[in-house]
Amino acid sequence: MKVAFADIKATYQRLKPELDAAYARVMESGRYILGEEVEAFEKEFASFCGAGHCVAAANGLEALELILKGCGIGPGDEVIVPANTYIASWLAVTNVGARPVPVEPDLKTYNLDPALAGKAVTSKTRAILAVHLYGLPAEMDQLGEIAARRRILLIEDAAQAHGARYRGRAAGNLGQAAGFSFYPTKNLGAFGDSGAVVTSDGQLAEKVRLLRNYGSQNKYQHLIPGGNSRMDPLQAAFLRVKLKHLEQWNRERRAAAAVYQEKLAGLKGLVLPQVPNECEPCWHQYVVRTKQRDRLKLALEQAGIGTMIHYPVPPHLSPAYSSLKYKAGDFPLTEEIAGTALSLPLGLQLAPGAQDYVINEIIKALE
Ligand SMILES: Cc1ncc(COP(=O)(O)O)c(C=O)c1O
Repeated sequence: MKVAFADIKATYQRLKPELDAAYARVMESGRYILGEEVEAFEKEFASFCGAGHCVAAANGLEALELILKGCGIGPGDEVIVPANTYIASWLAVTNVGARPVPVEPDLKTYNLDPALAGKAVTSKTRAILAVHLYGLPAEMDQLGEIAARRRILLIEDAAQAHGARYRGRAAGNLGQAAGFSFYPTKNLGAFGDSGAVVTSDGQLAEKVRLLRNYGSQNKYQHLIPGGNSRMDPLQAAFLRVKLKHLEQWNRERRAAAAVYQEKLAGLKGLVLPQVPNECEPCWHQYVVRTKQRDRLKLALEQAGIGTMIHYPVPPHLSPAYSSLKYKAGDFPLTEEIAGTALSLPLGLQLAPGAQDYVINEIIKALE
């Protein structure tokens, strides 16, 4: 049997008539920059998140940059970021000229450790950028208390958290603003790059809207120096089709995650994800940890099962950040996760028979 780690074409095949109709609608409209499709997606996605505003953007990285710029964060400022994240969370901070201050995760959730985040706040700190890694919401209550007490912002990197919930509230509605990515493999993925800023702060939304489009509301009237981070209307039309199915797909992911949780429980040397009571993850990834990671990955590969490592090199050890002069051992928990984490197949390609096969092969490899 072959089990792909992810099969992004599967969603096209499932929704072909609707997606083809969306494509034709945009092509026939003659409107290829912003316009009705983008505006309709913005309304629908804001409503999905329970937030006041959505500003559709070109990708998730730029969505985060737009938030930071919109909040006036730049050179001389510090932003607390997880040490354990995809490098984009750090790049958003350095791309606006601010300094990322990495903080170790809680080893139970892999998300920012709130106690350590509190200790990292200085007089230069302007914000905490909390990542909901693998679709598990960060400890937003504790982080929110720190942010309120220290008068700094709490921003969500919700790139992996479409439909994840914290105390019943959706990601995107848990801080000052949230950056989403619709990279094709995300729970809500486009057929190309795109992203969005979601916020209930009307002033921030307006500023981000200007920054996204050359600082302009009306053509050739430039109110502030902005850039071009617009979402493509074709992607907006595709995302509108997929958004209608997102809750159902997330339910399917939750059901598959529950099967892994039950059937892999108690396997020696295998650490399964832990979900705090207040969190309802959207299971962007289902990540196990084991000291035998590389051996397990190879055994699964030989059995025709695709897996991935999220992420093999943490940002502080990436050559991109050599100028920050971090070295191995500076963030031991993050490095431990990078050395032991393995993401298992989850999503549309995972028929029940395929999941049983994956589980049996894991048991065989580890016993
Ligand atoms: C945690 C996190 N932040 C930010 C991003 C950036 O999103 P994009 O690839 O759409 O720029 C990603 C996406 O891959 C991500 O996983």
